[in-house]
Amino acid sequence: MMMPENGHRAHGFSSAAFLDSDEILGELNLNGDETFMDAGCGDGHIAIKVLEDYNHKGTVYAVDIYDASIDDMETYKQENDVENLINIEADIPEGIPGVEDESIDVVLLVNVFHGFKASRKLDEAVMELARIVKKDGKIAIMDYKAWDVPKGPPTKMRSSPTDLEELFNKQGLKMTYLNEEIGEDIPEGKSHFLIMFEKE
Ligand SMILES: C[S@@+](CC[C@H](N)C(=O)[O-])C[C@H]1O[C@@H](n2cnc3c(N)ncnc32)[C@H](O)[C@@H]1O
Repeated sequence: MMMPENGHRAHGFSSAAFLDSDEILGELNLNGDETFMDAGCGDGHIAIKVLEDYNHKGTVYAVDIYDASIDDMETYKQENDVENLINIEADIPEGIPGVEDESIDVVLLVNVFHGFKASRKLDEAVMELARIVKKDGKIAIMDYKAWDVPKGPPTKMRSSPTDLEELFNKQGLKMTYLNEEIGEDIPEGKSHFLIMFEKE
């Protein structure tokens, strides 16, 4: 269990300390009324930023497998009287309960996707993301480049944009955007890529 800056509990490193969430959210061009999901929200700092700094009026989902993260998001919701926040404890590849088919405009996963490779649940995760996203919605994945560098997950857990494109194509999703110059400055260059998919 980690203790991120906002005091919420998280199962893994919060990206708040080393990624610029405004840089990430800026890629999404949110207009404020979308149904947005922070999938694998951890400490929830991205969902909270969308609600607070972007004055989001649409529904925001915060989803995580770690019950303590979701408990802390529930406390945040109640203490701040945030009506448009829905927190769900779920193992994404197993299905996100309570989320209807084709109901989400934008799903964002920051430093989450490599975990599906580690648990060998890549196809299941992509199928679930494909299920929940609207026909004209987008799935945005930001993750560590598939480099053998010290910071981040082991190299064998990482996927390249080409790997992801193959996986998503199999589920009828096409790549609509790729930024390979995003994230933290490390000696090798920018640490991350951000890739987006939509239904064909
Ligand atoms: C490295 S943290 C990143 C958290 C947050 N997205 C951020 O950028 O700070 C990965 C998060 O994904 C969650 N996670 C991992 N596997 C998951 C799964 N199968 N379903 C839902 N959440 C998962 C973990 O519990 C953890 O909170």
